[in-house]
Amino acid sequence: MQLINRPRRLRSSEAIRRMVREHHVRIEDLIYPMFVMFGEQKKLPISSMPGVHNYSLDEYLLALKEVVAAGIPAVLLFGIPEEKDEVGTGAYDHHGIIQEAVRLTKLHYPNLYVITDVCLCEYTDHGHCGVIQEGRVLNDPTLKLLAQTAVSHAEAGADMVAPSDMMDGRVAAIREALDDAGYSHIPIMSYSAKFASAFYGPFREAAGSTPQFGDRRTYQMDPPNGNEAMLETALDIEEGADIIIVKPALAYGDITYRTKEQFGLPIAAYNVSGEYAMVKAAAEKGWIDEKRVVMESLVSMKRAGADLIITYHALDAARWIKEDE
Ligand code: PBG
Ligand code: ZN
Repeated sequence: MQLINRPRRLRSSEAIRRMVREHHVRIEDLIYPMFVMFGEQKKLPISSMPGVHNYSLDEYLLALKEVVAAGIPAVLLFGIPEEKDEVGTGAYDHHGIIQEAVRLTKLHYPNLYVITDVCLCEYTDHGHCGVIQEGRVLNDPTLKLLAQTAVSHAEAGADMVAPSDMMDGRVAAIREALDDAGYSHIPIMSYSAKFASAFYGPFREAAGSTPQFGDRRTYQMDPPNGNEAMLETALDIEEGADIIIVKPALAYGDITYRTKEQFGLPIAAYNVSGEYAMVKAAAEKGWIDEKRVVMESLVSMKRAGADLIITYHALDAARWIKEDE
């Protein structure tokens, strides 16, 4: 039979498949999220995220050694404070857990790129991302605290800050505060399109940040809304965002695609805790091939338009990428 087009010609061997492959996950694309807390010799497993731990700073340093050896260029830090209060004081404390972790990281690994999550929910006793009045999360009073948090991270030596709270105007508030404090060179990676997702469940176990009342739907976006994500992103760019995060990643490839098409800025897809937990659980049961599922998921983020990928799989992925070189 005479067929002119036979796309299978370019799939006939591994060599040709590699030659025409359109997208790649590179180790340089990976950002590894890590959880730090006070104490010593603590490496507490997070039950719903096998392989992920809450580290005291000494153990964190040991773990960093592996991250650096794997060639992963950047970490994204989350802190668990000793005490929580109504206004999240631990978030902007000069001697807070993140501030200490950043100083320590920069002391030992000056070339590792340190990104800090800027939010209040790990530090507030009510678990919301902003200050509360009569059961409501207040927008404008929260901005000051977020800005203060970002500046304190920069003072400690953070290379970039990543606000994840979803308050209106926070990128502008943080940009202004950083500039005023002499940190105009510090970029902002904004969680612009952050949805009120059930996929954050395991993270909240790790960070102890489950809201004590209500939920995050009055500030995080409604999952069915794509145009709204474009509006949020446009506003953040106007306010000075340098990199845009789309979160979660797997069910939101359309948002990644649209963001890249429309704005062209660097995009980071956040492959969140629940996405990680699902893969780990199915792999443990022997129901899926973990390596293949992870690498297929990560490359789907690249295909959708992500430049960077924030993922708990980063260490494994880095190893697998090397193996397949
Ligand atoms: C804090 C924050 C969250 C995540 C990143 N920053 C939790 C939330 O918004 O409830 C989620 C990360 C993950 O699930 O892996 N606001
Ligand atoms: Zn938060």
